[in-house]
Amino acid sequence: MNDFTFYNPTKLQFGKQAVANHLATSLKPYQTILVVYGGGSIKRNGVYGDVMAVLQAEQKTIVELAGVDPNPRVTTANEGAALCKAHNVDIVLAVGGGSVIDCAKLIAAAAKYDGDAWDLVTRKAPVNEALPIGVVLTLAATGSEMNSGSVITNPITKEKLSWGSPLTFPKFSIMDPSYTFTVPTNHTVYGIVDIMSHTFEQYFNNATNTPITDQMAEGLLRTMIEVAPKVVKDPTNYELRETILLGGTIGLNGFLAIGSRGDWGSHNIEHAVSALHDIPHAGGLAILFPQWMRHVIMTNPERFAQIATRVWQVNPSNKTPLQVAEEGIDCLANFWTSLGAPSRLSDYAIDDSTFEQIADHAMLNGPFGNFAKLERDDVLQILHASR
Ligand code: NZQ
Ligand code: ZN
Repeated sequence: MNDFTFYNPTKLQFGKQAVANHLATSLKPYQTILVVYGGGSIKRNGVYGDVMAVLQAEQKTIVELAGVDPNPRVTTANEGAALCKAHNVDIVLAVGGGSVIDCAKLIAAAAKYDGDAWDLVTRKAPVNEALPIGVVLTLAATGSEMNSGSVITNPITKEKLSWGSPLTFPKFSIMDPSYTFTVPTNHTVYGIVDIMSHTFEQYFNNATNTPITDQMAEGLLRTMIEVAPKVVKDPTNYELRETILLGGTIGLNGFLAIGSRGDWGSHNIEHAVSALHDIPHAGGLAILFPQWMRHVIMTNPERFAQIATRVWQVNPSNKTPLQVAEEGIDCLANFWTSLGAPSRLSDYAIDDSTFEQIADHAMLNGPFGNFAKLERDDVLQILHASR
């Protein structure tokens, strides 16, 4: 393992009726609340009503920001920051999935900054202060409910960038699996692809002696593989929803990265694709990740073979590690396809006419990937293989 410092201050409040049981107490120190949400799913499924009932019973001052897009925009964050300043908001409450939470994180930091929120994303200005953030989670996917990261799109410059600060961990995240019953099949599948992808990103590292995090990751992957087809068929099954909801959090709250540094190359390429084409994050990952694996397999075929045998139960007898590894990647690609995830960029009508631009975006900070270093030409090869 590498030496490490682990820090995660987010309090999780998980279970049935979690909003009724915990929201009032969690909000006790705060009077004026900015409630941030997306395009309306929370109004249709009753989550908005539950949250508002608590806020009204506690006589909070409520300010609202609706309409956060999937792939949240910096413009929405600037709008939210202006509301915070105008109304002296005490806490930003995100009610939604990763996009809403990521937007709320930028609002919280920009509320304490005198300038364009994009400066914080690009690191032109440091995050010195932020309003507290609370979360009511409605979708299992990103882990944003228990990490400090945020991914924001600038539609003008066509950039989609990750940023974060120790000040942008949510103070609390309320997670009621029944709030995810209404997540449509495609977003349920994208969520599972994202959770598995986060696990892979962290599993592919160059640290030695990582048996605990390896097996935590393998266990999480096996669980997702077991549960995914069931939850697609039975979306209102509490136990299945509960499993993937916790899976999303464990997938990216820092546990799997203890003692190692994950790769994150596939995410970097996917963010570049989404920046230009505004596709769902994990739809892009489902296409790109197996191709990244095939491209970098020679970096460490034994590591790919380990995941193939332990997660996909590939029989290694009379096969080279490379053959086992390749079989494992095929299992992954077939599995995601079986769930209905896209497998080619053409599924989103993306052709090679924008590949150069995507590669430029991916290379913004130079060669990337901690397990396998990628140059511009590697990015282009992965994109062409994904057509
Ligand atoms: O906008 P509404 O109407 O709420 O609908 C949303 C949205 O259309 C819908 N939805 C959410 N909960 C629902 C629901 N529909 C019915 N019932 C519910 N209970 O689902 C759609 C997708 O929501 P979104 O928040 O965009 O999905 P997700 O959680 O997958 O977040 C994706 C964003 O997170 C970023 C991605 O790049 C993307 O921008 N990521 C954030 C990370 C982080 N902060 O740690 C890491 C990830 O790798 C990722 O990059
Ligand atoms: Zn992701």
